Amino acid sequence: MLQVSGLTKTFGSGSNKLQVLKGVDMTIQQGEMVALMGPSGSGKSTLLNIIGGLLSGDGGEIDLDGEKYGQKSPSGVVNIRREYVGWIFQDFHLLENLTALDNVAIALELAGMPAKEAEDAARIALTKVGLEDRMNHIPDQLSGGQQQRVAIARAIAGNRPFLLADEPTGNLDIASGREVLQLFKDLCHDEVNPISILMVTHDPDLASNADRMLLLNDGKTEASDIRSAWGLDVEEQDGGEEE
Ligand SMILES: Nc1ncnc2c1ncn2[C@@H]1O[C@H](COP(=O)(O)OP(=O)(O)OP(=O)(O)O)[C@@H](O)[C@H]1O
Ligand SMILES: [Mg+2]
Repeated sequence: MLQVSGLTKTFGSGSNKLQVLKGVDMTIQQGEMVALMGPSGSGKSTLLNIIGGLLSGDGGEIDLDGEKYGQKSPSGVVNIRREYVGWIFQDFHLLENLTALDNVAIALELAGMPAKEAEDAARIALTKVGLEDRMNHIPDQLSGGQQQRVAIARAIAGNRPFLLADEPTGNLDIASGREVLQLFKDLCHDEVNPISILMVTHDPDLASNADRMLLLNDGKTEASDIRSAWGLDVEEQDGGEEE
């Protein structure tokens, strides 16, 4: 599904030069939910922005479902943004005067879908995220977790196969955060139409529930496990005493 090879990115020049990505190699399969962790400033959002076609890298390549880019300018990868990648942000980015249904439908219409078709697709997506009885509510009438589910419906509507989520649970309480993660896993493990998700999170507990964890460290990604995510090197994780 996604293959990133030798991706590099440097900001600035001269004494302000900062090489953020130093040759990132990673693969995400269809149906996989991968958590990306790493210290603040390590380049997680930069990596997502390049994969999402919002920023160009300096070196290396990205292959998303056969589409090859990575060094192309954002104007050269319009199809990646319109057809391949859905985004989910920490602060939902919903239009406050529009109902849940219209928030999802308008995104599809902007991508060129006729209005009636967009509304049908929006209903399907909102039903998938469990909001069939909230379609006509505006964001103010929804909880934070429900608002994030509207944003997820918007991201998956139109059958985009790959979701990028930059700290999607950052504004949610613990229970809502777990629900979002479970929804992500359900979407990835769907038997008919599995998608893939790359999610940035600072929460090791959520990250350890993903299918796989990656750590962005010194400009490169490496496989990670729950212990290194917590900065621990101990035997017992849950303090359990059985055995
Ligand atoms: N457009 C830019 N111009 C110059 N420097 C930038 C730009 N975008 C990001 N940077 C720098 O690149 C580094 C990585 O930033 P990035 O936002 O990718 O980090 P992050 O891992 O997402 O951090 P956080 O966890 O705080 O969100 C930071 O030092 C940042 O200041
Ligand atoms: Mg960031």
